[in-house]
Amino acid sequence: MDWGMQNRLARIIKPEDGRAVMLAVDHGYFLGPTGGLEEPRKTIEPLLPYADSIMLTRGVLRTSVDARWDRPVVLRVSGGTSILKELSNEDITVSIEDAIRVNASAMALSIFVGGEFEKNTLVNLAKLVDEGERCGIPVLAVTAVGKEMARDARYLGLSCRIAAELGAHFVKTYYCEEFEKVVEACPVPVIIAGGKKIPEVDALTLAFDAVQHGAVGVDMGRNIFQSDSPVGMIRAVRAIVHEKASVEESGRVYEDTKRVKARRAAAS
Ligand code: R5P
Repeated sequence: MDWGMQNRLARIIKPEDGRAVMLAVDHGYFLGPTGGLEEPRKTIEPLLPYADSIMLTRGVLRTSVDARWDRPVVLRVSGGTSILKELSNEDITVSIEDAIRVNASAMALSIFVGGEFEKNTLVNLAKLVDEGERCGIPVLAVTAVGKEMARDARYLGLSCRIAAELGAHFVKTYYCEEFEKVVEACPVPVIIAGGKKIPEVDALTLAFDAVQHGAVGVDMGRNIFQSDSPVGMIRAVRAIVHEKASVEESGRVYEDTKRVKARRAAAS
């Protein structure tokens, strides 16, 4: 791995502890104005100080994030479809020049193993890796799951391994039972997505279990920005990922943050 590639990856997966807290706010690229992200700037600004990096599209980056913020960007570069159509029919939607122009620390693309357009998404990943290698920008493969696909170790392990074999520098997938098998069979770092909103304690348990079983961190979206205390949740997730907090300890971080905000609101 060359210097630029290593340097960019180190901005996302922190060399001090080999862990990463990514804030995922790219949902609009196929879901439109997702709950909690209707006004991206309002959602993103209070959370940025607690995220190691932020994952988003170039459109939201340019319109809703202050360029003077020093946070690494994981740029979503695949898309071209919507929730109304076949989701696996994605293509590469951003040129490498534009990824460089916005100073991306990594590029993210979804693969749909088992999906109707599986081959296109896998070939797109390989092409993006070629471009990334040429310019020193790491590629995050997102193992998207079709509606009919099981989120189990066999399927997610298959997807992660294929992504790594095609050259992805790190992989994002879902947590599942026997997750350690997914991690063991994947020779590049694995990060988990949060998935649909679930109760806060369950989302914290998910993050805890994932790092216990080998994930280097989380790229969480809805379970942070759809929480009744988004800042409380990202701080709690941070405590798990970087400070080895237990679920109970992280729960207290969430509750305390929420309580302080409520007190301030009542006092003002
Ligand atoms: C989905 O395709 C997007 O890449 C999201 O970034 C990803 O699913 C993580 O967000 P969430 O934690 O809301 O699942």
